[in-house]
Amino acid sequence: MFESLEIIILAAGKGSRMHSHLPKVLHRIGGKTLIQHVIQEAESLNPKQIHIVYGFGGDSVREATPGPYNWVRQEDLLGTGHAVMQALPFCSRDSKILILVSDIPLIRSETLKNLLNQTTDDGVGVLTAVVENPEGLGRIIRNEEGQITGIVEEKDTTFEEKLIREVNTGVIVASCQDLERLLKKVQNHNAQKEYYLTDVIGLAANEGIVIEGYCSQDSLECGGINNKIQLALAERYYQKRLIDGYMRDGLIVADPARVDVRGNLIFGENTFLDINVVVEGNVFLGNDVVVGAGCVLKDCTIKDGSVLSPYTVIEGSVIGENATLGPFARFRPGCELMENVHVGNFVEVKKSKLGKGTKSGHLSYLGDSDIGDNVNIGAGTITCNYDGANKWKTKIGNDVFVGSDTQLVAPVTVGDGVTIGAGTTVTKNIPEKQLVITRAPLKMISGWKRPEKGNKKN
Ligand code: UD1
Ligand code: MG
Repeated sequence: MFESLEIIILAAGKGSRMHSHLPKVLHRIGGKTLIQHVIQEAESLNPKQIHIVYGFGGDSVREATPGPYNWVRQEDLLGTGHAVMQALPFCSRDSKILILVSDIPLIRSETLKNLLNQTTDDGVGVLTAVVENPEGLGRIIRNEEGQITGIVEEKDTTFEEKLIREVNTGVIVASCQDLERLLKKVQNHNAQKEYYLTDVIGLAANEGIVIEGYCSQDSLECGGINNKIQLALAERYYQKRLIDGYMRDGLIVADPARVDVRGNLIFGENTFLDINVVVEGNVFLGNDVVVGAGCVLKDCTIKDGSVLSPYTVIEGSVIGENATLGPFARFRPGCELMENVHVGNFVEVKKSKLGKGTKSGHLSYLGDSDIGDNVNIGAGTITCNYDGANKWKTKIGNDVFVGSDTQLVAPVTVGDGVTIGAGTTVTKNIPEKQLVITRAPLKMISGWKRPEKGNKKN
């Protein structure tokens, strides 16, 4: 029995085939970096330590990946075998080592557990997959008895070996001591002049060590990401897996292929997502919530019974029960809406509180404001919160009627029950229950003629 499990994640490569200045492992699937996906699965195996080998992109990978990991720098990128050798001195000699590559982000911990369970203490395990198109991947070589005798990298394959469809996923498990011994024997006499980790398999087989090949039941979870096409394919697969899981838990989705979740979604009962909804960060949806087509929700909470009409965009806000929002309403961070609020077309709300039953139906900007209950905000109302240097607050009490095309020049306070006539510019604090109007008196001019075309003045 091994004392403990340690995991080495290889993440030093550049990912040349991605054609990007960003290290490959910092590309994202479902909003999380590739390396975060792998770490998440690794962590669920409760290893004693996770070692991450980094190199290309330097500290950017480290900085983007906070956590209690042992970061091991690979100065020269001389291959996967060389990468593992950099981490081994930090591993306990009595540990079992699971090696993961950071470019197969969708691997599930259940699959890794199966591989670990199947590999005997003195054996070496390799996770394989049978794929339609094995191009670019290491091929698994088996003898007549079906035992694994080695792995051949694509660039070193013979014509016959190229036809093999069982491939190396990059996941290998072995004892620390076996790895130390075998890696010392690995040479770089191959097409890429690299020290291949995969050569360990052939060397172990030569020593008579049993190689356990655990073939994944789901070749898509083992899909390596080496270029942008594979990245997009993996994204689709990830979304399908995620949305299928949500539907099993009761989420109603108009079309599972047209919802994208780039983060975590928690939802109640009977909640519905229409097509082209994008969810980012941490989003909580209550019971009976309707999210219309094209809505974008980021780091927000939408409480029970709220209905979001199409193209409503909400970020960093809390929406109370039974709100009706949109279409085309936008909530920037810091909004808090009480129950039964209505915010309609082309209304932008930022860092504002809207009390119970308050309505802003059309074409307004409400920023840095604290608005009471049952307030009616007329179309075209603007809280003028910025004086060119600083932001100021607008406070509106309960039961206020704000006429259309009103400007509230902050800082300003409007008392309870105030009525503001249409077209008013509010520049002073208004005590409660007043009627305020700044409208110029209406003039009528009889007999006035409109200018006519071609009728020049001089
Ligand atoms: C590797 C395997 C191949 C397997 C495939 C599965 C080897 C030699 N080949 O090929 O058999 O089918 O994965 O996806 O292992 N890395 C380092 N340091 C290095 C080189 C690579 O840390 O010097 C890291 C990379 O960041 C990456 C991983 O190792 O996460 C694999 O490297 P990559 O270049 O993608 O290898 P493949 O050609 O995909
Ligand atoms: Mg790869």
